[in-house]
Amino acid sequence: MTTILQTMSHQQTEHQDSNPVPAPPPMRVAIIGAGRGGMALLDALHQIRTIQIVGIVDQNPSAPGLKRAQELKVPVYHEIADLITHQELNLVMDVTGDPAMESALRKTVPTGTDVVNGQTSRLLWLLVQHESILQTELLHAEKLAGIGSFAAGIAHDMNNPLQLILGLAENLTDETDLEAVHLQAHDIIEAVKRTTAICRDLTSYSRRASLRQDCLMSINGKLDEALKIARYAVALQDIDIRKLYQPDVVVKGNPDELLHVFVNLITNAVQAMEHHGTLTLETTATADATRVRVTDTGSGISPELLGRIFDPFFTTKPPGKGTGLGLYNIKNVIHHMNGTIGVESQVGRGSTFTLIFPNETVAGERSAQS
Ligand SMILES: Nc1ncnc2c1ncn2[C@@H]1O[C@H](COP(=O)(O)OP(=O)(O)O)[C@@H](O)[C@H]1O
Ligand SMILES: [Mg+2]
Repeated sequence: MTTILQTMSHQQTEHQDSNPVPAPPPMRVAIIGAGRGGMALLDALHQIRTIQIVGIVDQNPSAPGLKRAQELKVPVYHEIADLITHQELNLVMDVTGDPAMESALRKTVPTGTDVVNGQTSRLLWLLVQHESILQTELLHAEKLAGIGSFAAGIAHDMNNPLQLILGLAENLTDETDLEAVHLQAHDIIEAVKRTTAICRDLTSYSRRASLRQDCLMSINGKLDEALKIARYAVALQDIDIRKLYQPDVVVKGNPDELLHVFVNLITNAVQAMEHHGTLTLETTATADATRVRVTDTGSGISPELLGRIFDPFFTTKPPGKGTGLGLYNIKNVIHHMNGTIGVESQVGRGSTFTLIFPNETVAGERSAQS
Protein backbone atom coordinates (compact mmCIF):
# COMPACT_ATOMS: atom_id res chain seq x y z
CA MET A 1 0.00 0.00 0.00
CA THR A 2 1.30 3.44 -0.86
CA THR A 3 0.77 6.07 1.79
CA ILE A 4 0.57 9.67 0.70
CA LEU A 5 0.93 12.74 2.82
CA GLN A 6 0.74 16.27 1.54
CA THR A 7 1.65 19.17 3.80
CA MET A 8 -0.70 22.04 3.23
CA SER A 9 0.54 25.44 2.41
CA HIS A 10 -1.09 28.36 4.25
CA GLN A 11 -4.50 29.31 2.87
CA GLN A 12 -5.28 25.84 1.52
CA THR A 13 -7.98 23.78 3.17
CA GLU A 14 -7.01 20.41 4.50
CA HIS A 15 -9.43 17.58 3.74
CA GLN A 16 -9.16 14.88 6.32
CA ASP A 17 -12.03 12.41 6.19
CA SER A 18 -10.86 10.77 9.37
CA ASN A 19 -11.34 13.97 11.39
CA PRO A 20 -14.96 14.10 12.58
CA VAL A 21 -14.64 17.47 14.42
CA PRO A 22 -15.49 20.34 12.06
CA ALA A 23 -12.70 22.91 11.94
CA PRO A 24 -13.67 26.35 13.33
CA PRO A 25 -14.06 29.04 10.66
CA PRO A 26 -10.79 30.87 9.95
CA MET A 27 -10.12 34.25 11.54
CA ARG A 28 -10.65 36.86 8.83
CA VAL A 29 -7.94 39.50 8.95
CA ALA A 30 -7.27 42.69 6.95
CA ILE A 31 -3.84 44.34 6.88
CA ILE A 32 -3.54 48.12 6.50
CA GLY A 33 -0.10 49.14 5.26
CA ALA A 34 2.10 47.15 2.88
CA GLY A 35 5.51 48.51 3.85
CA ARG A 36 8.10 46.36 5.60
CA GLY A 37 5.84 45.78 8.63
CA GLY A 38 2.83 44.83 6.51
CA MET A 39 4.90 42.50 4.39
CA ALA A 40 6.43 40.75 7.43
CA LEU A 41 2.95 40.28 8.92
CA LEU A 42 1.64 38.98 5.62
CA ASP A 43 4.44 36.43 5.39
CA ALA A 44 3.90 35.25 8.95
CA LEU A 45 0.08 35.14 9.01
CA HIS A 46 -0.13 33.57 5.58
CA GLN A 47 1.47 30.40 6.93
CA ILE A 48 -1.15 29.94 9.65
CA ARG A 49 -3.96 27.77 8.36
CA THR A 50 -6.58 29.13 10.76
CA ILE A 51 -6.09 32.70 9.54
CA GLN A 52 -7.54 34.00 6.29
CA ILE A 53 -6.04 37.24 5.04
CA VAL A 54 -8.98 38.93 3.38
CA GLY A 55 -6.81 41.63 1.84
CA ILE A 56 -4.03 44.15 2.24
CA VAL A 57 -4.24 47.82 1.40
CA ASP A 58 -1.75 50.58 0.72
CA GLN A 59 -2.23 53.83 -1.13
CA ASN A 60 1.31 53.56 -2.46
CA PRO A 61 1.07 51.18 -5.46
CA SER A 62 4.79 50.34 -5.25
CA ALA A 63 4.66 49.28 -1.57
CA PRO A 64 6.66 45.99 -1.34
CA GLY A 65 3.92 44.13 0.53
CA LEU A 66 1.51 44.54 -2.39
CA LYS A 67 3.80 42.64 -4.74
CA ARG A 68 4.28 39.93 -2.16
CA ALA A 69 0.49 39.76 -1.67
CA GLN A 70 0.01 39.19 -5.40
CA GLU A 71 2.53 36.34 -5.28
CA LEU A 72 0.63 34.80 -2.38
CA LYS A 73 -2.71 35.43 -4.12
CA VAL A 74 -3.93 37.71 -1.31
CA PRO A 75 -6.32 40.39 -2.62
CA VAL A 76 -4.75 43.84 -2.93
CA TYR A 77 -6.66 47.09 -2.35
CA HIS A 78 -5.71 50.72 -2.83
CA GLU A 79 -8.59 52.24 -0.86
CA ILE A 80 -9.11 51.35 2.80
CA ALA A 81 -12.89 51.66 2.53
CA ASP A 82 -12.99 49.01 -0.21
CA LEU A 83 -11.25 46.53 2.06
CA ILE A 84 -13.01 47.28 5.31
CA THR A 85 -16.61 47.70 4.27
CA HIS A 86 -18.60 44.87 2.66
CA GLN A 87 -16.33 42.30 4.32
CA GLU A 88 -16.94 40.23 7.39
CA LEU A 89 -13.77 40.92 9.30
CA ASN A 90 -12.70 39.68 12.70
CA LEU A 91 -9.57 41.79 12.89
CA VAL A 92 -8.02 44.83 11.22
CA MET A 93 -4.26 45.17 11.68
CA ASP A 94 -2.99 48.69 11.06
CA VAL A 95 0.77 48.74 10.61
CA THR A 96 1.02 52.17 9.00
CA GLY A 97 2.26 53.80 12.22
CA ASP A 98 0.16 56.81 11.20
CA PRO A 99 -1.79 58.34 14.15
CA ALA A 100 -4.37 59.82 11.73
CA MET A 101 -5.16 56.30 10.54
CA GLU A 102 -6.15 55.34 14.07
CA SER A 103 -9.00 57.82 14.25
CA ALA A 104 -10.01 57.18 10.63
CA LEU A 105 -10.29 53.46 11.34
CA ARG A 106 -12.33 54.05 14.49
CA LYS A 107 -14.99 55.65 12.28
CA THR A 108 -14.97 53.09 9.44
CA VAL A 109 -14.45 49.73 11.12
CA PRO A 110 -17.79 48.02 11.79
CA THR A 111 -18.67 47.10 15.38
CA GLY A 112 -17.65 43.56 16.21
CA THR A 113 -14.35 43.91 14.35
CA ASP A 114 -11.26 44.35 16.52
CA VAL A 115 -8.50 46.77 15.55
CA VAL A 116 -4.82 46.36 16.35
CA ASN A 117 -2.70 49.46 15.89
CA GLY A 118 -0.16 51.80 17.48
CA GLN A 119 2.24 50.19 19.95
CA THR A 120 0.36 46.88 19.85
CA SER A 121 0.98 46.44 16.14
CA ARG A 122 4.59 47.51 16.62
CA LEU A 123 4.97 44.82 19.28
CA LEU A 124 3.45 42.28 16.87
CA TRP A 125 5.86 43.32 14.17
CA LEU A 126 8.81 42.89 16.54
CA LEU A 127 7.57 39.40 17.46
CA VAL A 128 7.15 38.47 13.81
CA GLN A 129 10.66 39.68 13.02
CA HIS A 130 12.01 37.76 15.99
CA GLU A 131 10.25 34.59 14.78
CA SER A 132 11.71 34.99 11.33
CA ILE A 133 15.23 35.42 12.79
CA LEU A 134 14.73 32.30 14.92
CA GLN A 135 13.70 30.27 11.87
CA THR A 136 16.77 31.41 9.95
CA GLU A 137 18.98 30.58 12.92
CA LEU A 138 17.40 27.14 13.25
CA LEU A 139 18.04 26.43 9.60
CA HIS A 140 21.64 27.53 9.98
CA ALA A 141 22.14 25.53 13.19
CA GLU A 142 20.77 22.39 11.55
CA LYS A 143 23.01 22.96 8.53
CA LEU A 144 26.08 23.29 10.75
CA ALA A 145 25.09 20.20 12.76
CA GLY A 146 24.88 18.28 9.47
CA ILE A 147 28.26 19.50 8.32
CA GLY A 148 29.82 17.46 11.13
CA SER A 149 28.98 14.33 9.15
CA PHE A 150 30.81 15.75 6.12
CA ALA A 151 34.19 15.28 7.80
CA ALA A 152 34.88 11.77 6.45
CA GLY A 153 33.84 12.75 2.90
CA ILE A 154 35.94 15.91 2.96
CA ALA A 155 38.96 14.06 4.37
CA HIS A 156 38.67 11.46 1.61
CA ASP A 157 38.30 14.02 -1.17
CA MET A 158 41.16 16.18 0.13
CA ASN A 159 43.42 13.24 0.77
CA ASN A 160 43.52 12.06 -2.87
CA PRO A 161 44.87 15.29 -4.39
CA LEU A 162 47.14 15.82 -1.38
CA GLN A 163 48.72 12.38 -1.85
CA LEU A 164 49.19 13.18 -5.52
CA ILE A 165 50.82 16.52 -4.71
CA LEU A 166 53.15 14.78 -2.23
CA GLY A 167 54.18 12.15 -4.81
CA LEU A 168 54.79 14.73 -7.52
CA ALA A 169 56.74 17.03 -5.21
CA GLU A 170 58.93 14.09 -4.11
CA ASN A 171 59.65 13.30 -7.76
CA LEU A 172 60.52 16.91 -8.42
CA THR A 173 63.27 16.92 -5.84
CA ASP A 174 65.44 14.66 -8.08
CA GLU A 175 64.00 15.62 -11.47
CA THR A 176 66.56 17.15 -13.86
CA ASP A 177 64.60 17.14 -17.12
CA LEU A 178 63.04 20.60 -17.40
CA GLU A 179 60.14 19.43 -19.52
CA ALA A 180 59.22 16.78 -16.92
CA VAL A 181 59.49 19.42 -14.18
CA HIS A 182 57.02 21.61 -16.06
CA LEU A 183 54.56 18.74 -16.55
CA GLN A 184 54.67 17.76 -12.89
CA ALA A 185 54.31 21.36 -11.76
CA HIS A 186 51.23 21.57 -13.96
CA ASP A 187 49.77 18.41 -12.33
CA ILE A 188 50.44 19.90 -8.91
CA ILE A 189 48.59 23.08 -9.84
CA GLU A 190 45.59 21.03 -11.05
CA ALA A 191 45.54 18.98 -7.84
CA VAL A 192 45.66 22.15 -5.72
CA LYS A 193 42.78 23.58 -7.76
CA ARG A 194 40.72 20.46 -6.93
CA THR A 195 41.24 20.92 -3.20
CA THR A 196 40.45 24.63 -3.50
CA ALA A 197 37.17 23.77 -5.28
CA ILE A 198 36.19 21.47 -2.39
CA CYS A 199 36.84 24.27 0.12
CA ARG A 200 34.91 26.76 -2.02
CA ASP A 201 31.84 24.49 -2.33
CA LEU A 202 31.75 23.86 1.38
CA THR A 203 32.37 27.38 2.57
CA SER A 204 29.62 28.71 0.33
CA TYR A 205 27.26 25.96 1.55
CA SER A 206 27.98 26.54 5.23
CA ARG A 207 27.52 30.30 5.11
CA ARG A 208 24.33 31.76 6.51
CA ALA A 209 21.54 32.00 3.92
CA SER A 210 21.23 35.59 2.78
CA LEU A 211 18.06 37.06 4.24
CA ARG A 212 15.04 37.29 1.97
CA GLN A 213 17.02 37.55 -1.23
CA ASP A 214 14.66 35.80 -3.57
CA CYS A 215 15.52 35.39 -7.24
CA LEU A 216 14.80 33.15 -10.20
CA MET A 217 17.12 30.17 -10.33
CA SER A 218 17.59 26.97 -12.30
CA ILE A 219 16.26 24.00 -10.37
CA ASN A 220 18.37 21.53 -12.36
CA GLY A 221 21.51 23.52 -11.53
CA LYS A 222 20.59 23.56 -7.82
CA LEU A 223 20.00 19.79 -7.81
CA ASP A 224 23.42 19.20 -9.40
CA GLU A 225 25.04 21.52 -6.85
CA ALA A 226 23.24 19.66 -4.06
CA LEU A 227 24.55 16.32 -5.35
CA LYS A 228 28.09 17.70 -5.17
CA ILE A 229 27.59 18.76 -1.54
CA ALA A 230 25.63 15.66 -0.44
CA ARG A 231 28.54 13.53 -1.68
CA TYR A 232 30.52 14.65 1.39
CA ALA A 233 27.76 13.64 3.81
CA VAL A 234 26.78 10.29 2.30
CA ALA A 235 28.58 7.82 0.06
CA LEU A 236 27.13 8.03 -3.43
CA GLN A 237 29.46 5.66 -5.24
CA ASP A 238 27.08 2.66 -5.09
CA ILE A 239 23.99 4.75 -5.81
CA ASP A 240 22.63 4.75 -9.32
CA ILE A 241 21.67 8.37 -9.96
CA ARG A 242 19.02 9.03 -12.60
CA LYS A 243 18.41 12.62 -13.65
CA LEU A 244 15.13 13.19 -15.44
CA TYR A 245 15.44 16.93 -15.96
CA GLN A 246 13.20 19.01 -18.12
CA PRO A 247 15.45 21.76 -19.51
CA ASP A 248 15.22 25.35 -18.28
CA VAL A 249 13.09 24.72 -15.21
CA VAL A 250 13.21 27.76 -12.94
CA VAL A 251 11.71 28.69 -9.62
CA LYS A 252 11.74 31.81 -7.47
CA GLY A 253 13.25 31.66 -4.01
CA ASN A 254 16.35 31.99 -1.89
CA PRO A 255 19.16 30.04 -3.65
CA ASP A 256 21.02 29.19 -0.42
CA GLU A 257 17.86 27.87 1.19
CA LEU A 258 16.82 25.81 -1.85
CA LEU A 259 20.28 24.26 -2.05
CA HIS A 260 19.93 23.27 1.59
CA VAL A 261 16.49 21.74 0.88
CA PHE A 262 17.89 19.57 -1.92
CA VAL A 263 20.98 18.51 0.06
CA ASN A 264 18.66 17.40 2.87
CA LEU A 265 16.29 15.46 0.62
CA ILE A 266 19.17 13.72 -1.16
CA THR A 267 20.92 12.92 2.13
CA ASN A 268 17.72 11.46 3.59
CA ALA A 269 17.15 9.40 0.44
CA VAL A 270 20.67 7.95 0.41
CA GLN A 271 20.56 7.20 4.14
CA ALA A 272 17.23 5.38 3.63
CA MET A 273 18.83 3.24 0.90
CA GLU A 274 21.75 2.41 3.17
CA HIS A 275 24.00 3.56 0.36
CA HIS A 276 22.74 1.06 -2.28
CA GLY A 277 19.89 1.76 -4.67
CA THR A 278 18.56 4.21 -7.22
CA LEU A 279 18.10 7.91 -6.61
CA THR A 280 15.88 9.61 -9.18
CA LEU A 281 15.81 13.40 -9.48
CA GLU A 282 13.03 14.65 -11.70
CA THR A 283 11.99 18.16 -12.68
CA THR A 284 8.96 19.16 -14.73
CA ALA A 285 7.27 22.43 -15.55
CA THR A 286 3.71 22.62 -16.78
CA ALA A 287 1.54 25.66 -17.36
CA ASP A 288 0.30 25.66 -13.78
CA ALA A 289 3.23 24.46 -11.68
CA THR A 290 6.86 23.46 -11.43
CA ARG A 291 7.51 20.10 -9.79
CA VAL A 292 10.58 18.47 -8.31
CA ARG A 293 10.51 14.81 -7.33
CA VAL A 294 13.21 13.06 -5.31
CA THR A 295 12.67 9.30 -5.33
CA ASP A 296 14.64 6.59 -3.57
CA THR A 297 14.44 2.82 -3.44
CA GLY A 298 15.10 2.77 0.28
CA SER A 299 13.37 1.59 3.45
CA GLY A 300 10.19 3.59 2.95
CA ILE A 301 8.25 5.15 5.83
CA SER A 302 5.52 3.34 7.73
CA PRO A 303 2.03 4.93 7.67
CA GLU A 304 2.17 5.52 11.46
CA LEU A 305 5.33 7.62 11.12
CA LEU A 306 4.41 9.43 7.92
CA GLY A 307 2.38 12.10 9.70
CA ARG A 308 5.28 12.91 12.03
CA ILE A 309 8.29 13.24 9.74
CA PHE A 310 7.80 17.00 9.24
CA ASP A 311 7.61 17.62 13.00
CA PRO A 312 10.60 19.36 14.59
CA PHE A 313 13.05 16.95 16.24
CA PHE A 314 11.35 13.83 14.85
CA THR A 315 14.09 11.43 13.85
CA THR A 316 14.50 7.66 13.62
CA LYS A 317 18.26 8.02 13.27
CA PRO A 318 20.81 7.48 16.04
CA PRO A 319 22.36 10.53 17.71
CA GLY A 320 25.00 12.10 15.49
CA LYS A 321 23.24 10.89 12.32
CA GLY A 322 20.05 12.92 12.52
CA THR A 323 18.71 16.07 14.14
CA GLY A 324 15.08 15.62 13.10
CA LEU A 325 15.11 19.21 11.86
CA GLY A 326 15.74 18.56 8.16
CA LEU A 327 12.17 18.09 6.93
CA TYR A 328 10.83 20.68 9.38
CA ASN A 329 13.16 23.31 7.91
CA ILE A 330 12.45 22.12 4.36
CA LYS A 331 8.72 22.55 4.92
CA ASN A 332 9.25 26.12 6.20
CA VAL A 333 11.42 27.07 3.21
CA ILE A 334 8.97 25.56 0.70
CA HIS A 335 5.97 27.25 2.32
CA HIS A 336 7.82 30.56 2.23
CA MET A 337 8.20 29.97 -1.51
CA ASN A 338 4.42 29.50 -1.65
CA GLY A 339 4.92 25.85 -2.54
CA THR A 340 3.91 22.52 -1.04
CA ILE A 341 5.83 19.38 -0.16
CA GLY A 342 4.26 15.94 -0.18
CA VAL A 343 5.51 12.40 0.29
CA GLU A 344 4.45 9.02 -1.03
CA SER A 345 6.01 5.98 0.52
CA GLN A 346 5.87 2.20 0.50
CA VAL A 347 7.64 0.30 3.24
CA GLY A 348 10.48 -1.76 1.78
CA ARG A 349 10.08 -0.14 -1.64
CA GLY A 350 11.06 3.50 -1.19
CA SER A 351 9.77 7.05 -1.01
CA THR A 352 9.11 10.00 -3.28
CA PHE A 353 9.17 13.57 -2.01
CA THR A 354 7.39 15.97 -4.36
CA LEU A 355 7.77 19.74 -4.25
CA ILE A 356 5.20 21.78 -6.15
CA PHE A 357 5.65 25.48 -6.86
CA PRO A 358 2.81 27.41 -8.48
CA ASN A 359 3.91 28.98 -11.72
CA GLU A 360 2.11 32.27 -12.25
CA THR A 361 4.62 34.52 -10.54
CA VAL A 362 7.58 32.88 -12.26
CA ALA A 363 5.99 33.18 -15.69
CA GLY A 364 5.15 36.84 -15.01
CA GLU A 365 8.68 37.69 -13.93
CA ARG A 366 10.20 35.81 -16.82
CA SER A 367 8.31 37.83 -19.39
CA ALA A 368 9.10 40.99 -17.43
CA GLN A 369 12.82 40.09 -17.54
CA SER A 370 13.00 39.28 -21.23
N1 LIG B 1 13.71 9.33 2.00
C1 LIG B 1 13.36 8.84 3.20
N2 LIG B 1 13.14 7.51 3.35
C2 LIG B 1 12.78 6.99 4.55
N3 LIG B 1 12.61 7.73 5.67
C3 LIG B 1 12.80 9.06 5.58
C4 LIG B 1 13.19 9.68 4.35
N4 LIG B 1 13.30 11.01 4.56
C5 LIG B 1 13.01 11.20 5.87
N5 LIG B 1 12.72 10.05 6.48
C6 LIG B 1 12.30 9.85 7.89
O1 LIG B 1 11.97 11.10 8.43
C7 LIG B 1 12.73 11.39 9.59
C8 LIG B 1 12.96 12.89 9.71
O2 LIG B 1 13.80 13.36 8.66
P1 LIG B 1 14.59 14.70 8.85
O3 LIG B 1 13.63 15.74 9.33
O4 LIG B 1 15.37 14.97 7.63
O5 LIG B 1 15.53 14.40 10.08
P2 LIG B 1 16.81 13.47 10.18
O6 LIG B 1 17.25 13.13 8.79
O7 LIG B 1 17.78 14.32 10.91
O8 LIG B 1 16.36 12.26 10.97
C9 LIG B 1 13.99 10.57 9.41
O9 LIG B 1 14.64 10.29 10.65
C10 LIG B 1 13.45 9.30 8.74
O10 LIG B 1 12.87 8.44 9.69
MG1 LIG C 1 17.51 14.61 7.29
